[in-house]
Amino acid sequence: MNIHLTDEQKMMQTMVREFAQQEIKKQVIQMDKQHHFPTEIIKKMGELGLMGIPIPETYGGSGMDYTSYIIAIQEISKISATIGVILSVHTSVGTNPILYFGNDEQKKRYVPKLARGQYLGAFALTEPHAGSDAANLKMKATKQGDYYLLNGSKIFITNGKEADTFITFARTSDLGRSKGISAFIIEKDTPGFTIGKSERKMGLHGSSTVSLSFDQCKVHQDQLLGKEGEGFAIAMANLNIGRIGIAAQALGIAEGALEHASVYAKEREQFGRPISQHQGITFKLADMATEVEAAKLLVYRAASLIERDKSCTKEVSMAKLFAAQTARKVSIEAVQILGGYGYTEDYPVERYFRDAKVTEIYEGTNEIQRMVISKNLLK
Ligand code: CAA
Repeated sequence: MNIHLTDEQKMMQTMVREFAQQEIKKQVIQMDKQHHFPTEIIKKMGELGLMGIPIPETYGGSGMDYTSYIIAIQEISKISATIGVILSVHTSVGTNPILYFGNDEQKKRYVPKLARGQYLGAFALTEPHAGSDAANLKMKATKQGDYYLLNGSKIFITNGKEADTFITFARTSDLGRSKGISAFIIEKDTPGFTIGKSERKMGLHGSSTVSLSFDQCKVHQDQLLGKEGEGFAIAMANLNIGRIGIAAQALGIAEGALEHASVYAKEREQFGRPISQHQGITFKLADMATEVEAAKLLVYRAASLIERDKSCTKEVSMAKLFAAQTARKVSIEAVQILGGYGYTEDYPVERYFRDAKVTEIYEGTNEIQRMVISKNLLK
């Protein structure tokens, strides 16, 4: 498959590359070292239309295709995987569930604000005892008149500290596993809803990851997203497509690490010549570049299937699995090529490696992607 970009997609690529170089690059170290959430950058991204790339213009978005969306995440993640994940979670699983499953009132109320970046979105599915086994979640939503009372807790919620809206999943009936789960739109200031501790993570230091607690949290039935009992289907439908965002983030990380390793290899001299003239290094770079190219083809193909409304759960999971593994492998090889310097904080490759690892874990671990792929392959 040739990756032939349209004029609009090329414009997106150029615009985001420049934005990442001029606005993001200078803040990368502060985000990483001080665990600083990039509020100002996110605001500018909203002004540029980057917080709602695939959202229709009628709902305040940029009305662009999924290829443009992944180009933006890929280009941003080459410089900052932290901003890559903030953007992906906000769009794929923070906004899309309302766009696809919300009623007219909910769409009008929330989507334009999210698409313009005035609101930040989060997705609250994971619980302390229900991660990969999402259908085992325990949080309860009990109907009382026109309201629901939510009780329980969530964990590992990306964007959670700064988000305005949380797509939250809770059990509304005792029907087993996936059957009794419903989805709600929870606003940050809802009484009974509190944001808990921030995780100290290996990477992605500028993005917040928090626990949430719901204690007799009372929400009007208007906040129910879709119908009662549809929650698991809503979560899966959005993850099926949404995982393309993390795949694009992983691709960007791999490309960024490869670029740094290539530049360094040409400059660094050992045994009287640049290390890029030693076969041990050139073969590594050749393997890294080949894997990056393969990941790119899978990611762009999955995006083009989404655009054509093709069923593409398997292809998105393949892209996410392969790109995440590539990000981890390429970034660790980049550390190896930089040697002792690569292991220090003076060079960015150790950060690429720390940021890469979680792409194999969140939005479905590698093992979950293999379950999804094999299930679709064999059905
Ligand atoms: N798409 C649509 N429907 C699906 C589906 C999919 N991918 N997977 C399952 N379903 C449906 C099934 O068809 C079934 O429906 P029926 O009962 O009507 O037939 C129902 O869901 C239950 O199916 P299973 O029994 O097969 O489900 P399961 O319990 O075995 O779980 C799973 C399937 C794929 C493992 C799912 O639990 C899963 O995706 N787990 C990973 C969770 C995850 O990705 N979490 C990420 C959290 S968000 C995040 O990480 C954001 C961030 O911070 C970056």
